[in-house]
Amino acid sequence: MQFVKKNILDMASLSAEEITLILDTAEKMKEISERPIKKVPTLRGKTIVLFFYEPSTRTRISFDIAAKRLSADSISISASTSSMVKGETLIDTARNLEAMNADVIVMRHSSAGAPHLLAKRLRASVINAGDGTHAHPTQALLDMMTVRENKGTLNGLRIAIIGDISNSRVARSNIIGFTKMGADVILAGPPTMIPKGIETLGVSVTYNIDDAVHGADVIMMLRIQKERQKSFLFPTEREYARFYGLTYERLKHVGEDALIMHPGPINRGVEISHDVADGPYSIILDQVTNGVAVRMALLYLVSGGAKHAD
Ligand code: CP
Repeated sequence: MQFVKKNILDMASLSAEEITLILDTAEKMKEISERPIKKVPTLRGKTIVLFFYEPSTRTRISFDIAAKRLSADSISISASTSSMVKGETLIDTARNLEAMNADVIVMRHSSAGAPHLLAKRLRASVINAGDGTHAHPTQALLDMMTVRENKGTLNGLRIAIIGDISNSRVARSNIIGFTKMGADVILAGPPTMIPKGIETLGVSVTYNIDDAVHGADVIMMLRIQKERQKSFLFPTEREYARFYGLTYERLKHVGEDALIMHPGPINRGVEISHDVADGPYSIILDQVTNGVAVRMALLYLVSGGAKHAD
């Protein structure tokens, strides 16, 4: 199959076949990271700009590592250290980066749609590293890779996504990705954190975490996004933890092969307890490992890597 997408902006614009190609490519890329010398010349001569307007540990560092493992040159800029503090616009900043012959711009921004705006105006490829509450496609792809690696398939799995659904770009991208691949997705959280009408995305909703985790193959806990909450959505963190936090006690209705996931960063003791986050069901650090592989695959594919592949 040919991969003809110039940009990776959201999960809605990727077909099931394209998702499968990305995950298959990421599996091959993962092997490179396991070699004693973790570097191949595949993207030598390409320039990748990491343009992050919001803080990030996992996404920014894993894109940087991914670029370096493929021998591309990568450079990071942030809003606070760029000429945006002098009033330069987003588009002007991006056009200046393109004038320096950047091949791929990886962008995180607090406004939904910012990467889409760049993609329309630039010849360079744009990869969305998270835009507001809208989308985080590379996180969904690494989550899907991690589940497929453990379960062999995504089709027919029961995926419980729990917590601050309203403010979560991770939840939105995972809902679209997992349902597209044939999984059943159930959402749980306080009524104040679940958008009305979200069932139209093909998911079911419960306000009871125990109903959601019962029989789940995968339990994905979400971070409470304090920085995005415009009003108080729950009384106290202690109360949230009591009703919606994942504890060992709550895992008694879960099968031994259930997987516990979290995109990070974790609010330990709030949405997930220490013993669950670090326990035998947890594949949270596997998600981080696979983040490098998925981002290597995406940089390779948008750079034309699979144009001639079957
Ligand atoms: N999961 C995730 O996007 O983490 P960072 O904010 O650290 O990149």
